[in-house]
Amino acid sequence: MIEEQIEKKIEDAYKEKFPVSKERHEQLINYIPGGATRSLSYFKPYPIHIDYGQGAYVYTHEGHKLLDVTNAYGAIVHGHGDPDVVRAVRDGIAKGSQYSTPTDGQYKLAKLLCERVPGFDKVRFLNSGTEATLFVMRTARAYTGKDKILKMIGGFHGTHDSVAASTKKNVITAGIPEGMTEAILEVPFNDFDALEKTVKENASELAAVIMEPFLGAGGVVLPKPGYLEHVRKVTSDNNVLLIFDEIFSYRVNTGGCQKLFGVIPDLTTVGKVVGGGLPIGVFGGKEEIMNIFCHENTEKPLYHSGTFNGYETVMQAGYAALSKYDEAAVAYVNKLGDQFKNGLLESFKANRLNIQANQIGSLLNIHFVNEPITNADQVLKSEEQLHRLMHLSLLNKGIFTIPRGLFILSTAITEEEIDLLVNKIDETLKELLPLIEEKYNHLLL
Ligand SMILES: Cc1ncc(COP(=O)(O)O)c(C=O)c1O
Repeated sequence: MIEEQIEKKIEDAYKEKFPVSKERHEQLINYIPGGATRSLSYFKPYPIHIDYGQGAYVYTHEGHKLLDVTNAYGAIVHGHGDPDVVRAVRDGIAKGSQYSTPTDGQYKLAKLLCERVPGFDKVRFLNSGTEATLFVMRTARAYTGKDKILKMIGGFHGTHDSVAASTKKNVITAGIPEGMTEAILEVPFNDFDALEKTVKENASELAAVIMEPFLGAGGVVLPKPGYLEHVRKVTSDNNVLLIFDEIFSYRVNTGGCQKLFGVIPDLTTVGKVVGGGLPIGVFGGKEEIMNIFCHENTEKPLYHSGTFNGYETVMQAGYAALSKYDEAAVAYVNKLGDQFKNGLLESFKANRLNIQANQIGSLLNIHFVNEPITNADQVLKSEEQLHRLMHLSLLNKGIFTIPRGLFILSTAITEEEIDLLVNKIDETLKELLPLIEEKYNHLLL
């Protein structure tokens, strides 16, 4: 009874608030299956349709102003329409968007990245994170002459065949030939022994371990103390390369998580914020490995091409965004993250809720789970109905979040807006409390 009432109330309010989005959704499904061209941007009953964004806010076609704590799934770090990024794009495109030659923008962005990220001696550019992980894995295989790659259960590395076939319980990955995943091994994140055992047993065939320093899209699950150091030691001892996929995690420090934790991999990928909100992927690493691409020293360098690689406008936009994402900017947005977490913990306590807020820097994931979360299996226990209702209810209250409880902040957000965000989540939890008491009382203190 209570369940139906709460669901109906939240869903009716949503439909009432976003009727134009519904119309647009119904038009779009005629041309794009499901009305969303990325699986994750669809949600029931239909997604909102955004007209434009400015600073910390997005504006729907209904004219609603929503605080944006999705920030394009982490690609945007200075808010929407940042003047420096817009200027770089305008100036860049006016000069011609892409020239298929080496460019000034490539030089500036490559230099900045190599100066900042400890694991980057040399880098190469591509157009998405998916491409970056695909090529970094190929690089590891080509360099070592070995085929197997070990990844973490719940680790996300994009949508290419060999990494997409795991762990997402709500996504179908049919169509991936078995052969594509034969050489992929998996161990649970934060399990010291499983990692050591699997690396040792497979060392002669294992090219690399690929991992996010913390599970990002998989729930902001942080490494246990000493875990990253352990992975570094085990891989080095067994002649296996270590790849950090920092496409999501880079934003927590100017030098990425590897600088924050002081653990330096052999190869690294970055993306998202590094393109200033435009499509980008980057992989790079130690000079001796990256020289496999060097045309000058080698008769036959490893082939890596792409029409849009190093797209000049993207390079300029990325440089504009990244050069002002300096120590002060990172400290500011990370402090917002701390404020957000502290506010939430107070709210959870006041509402007698035993649920989790996993946070690092400007990234935070709420989990409807009654124990601290250290691996992907626990993340899968989070109560989906509560996520769905929280997401819709927050949209009703003017907050645009990622459905699975992930919040991504930007430097355009103020401390007052974090207080507002906490208040709106608090209101939402109060709204959901009768349902939690009835159906999910294991989440009560
Ligand atoms: C850690 C990580 N790797 C790879 C990717 C894939 O990047 P893209 O969506 O740009 O292909 C993502 C995207 O969320 C990511 O978080």
